[in-house]
Amino acid sequence: MAMYNDKVMDYFLHPHNVGEIENADGTGVYGSPVCGDMMQITISVDKDTDVITDAKFKTFGCGSAIASSSMATDMIIGKTVEEALNVSNKQIIEELGGLPAIKIHCSVLADHAIKSAIYDYAKKNNKTYAGLEGFDPDADDEEQEDTPEHI
Ligand code: FES
Repeated sequence: MAMYNDKVMDYFLHPHNVGEIENADGTGVYGSPVCGDMMQITISVDKDTDVITDAKFKTFGCGSAIASSSMATDMIIGKTVEEALNVSNKQIIEELGGLPAIKIHCSVLADHAIKSAIYDYAKKNNKTYAGLEGFDPDADDEEQEDTPEHI
């Protein structure tokens, strides 16, 4: 009756990139309208190359949120901002080897918090990214992302 696969359990029990970057270049906070849990992501960005050099997360969330944000921060470190914007919650779930259907929204928390952190970085540095087009950091978009085809 294992609900979570070994990879999810490993990322939950031994999470990477926990904490908060001091003087971060971008900070994103997102609260899930589904469960009320919160996620904060901070990022450091090399402004010349636009490469994300570090990312950390803090969450008031469940094990799936911890595993998802741990994986998501691993996935964006070393990527350019535009590449990181292309990382979807579906890809985070795939990298984790799957999440139970009722836990999909936890990965959306990580995905949305990363985009919010990049949005903050873009705003502070007067940058625009195609991947941020139409993105509203305050929008409750879980319903559209939390659909069965993402399971
Ligand atoms: S139940 Fe809230 S983040 Fe997982």
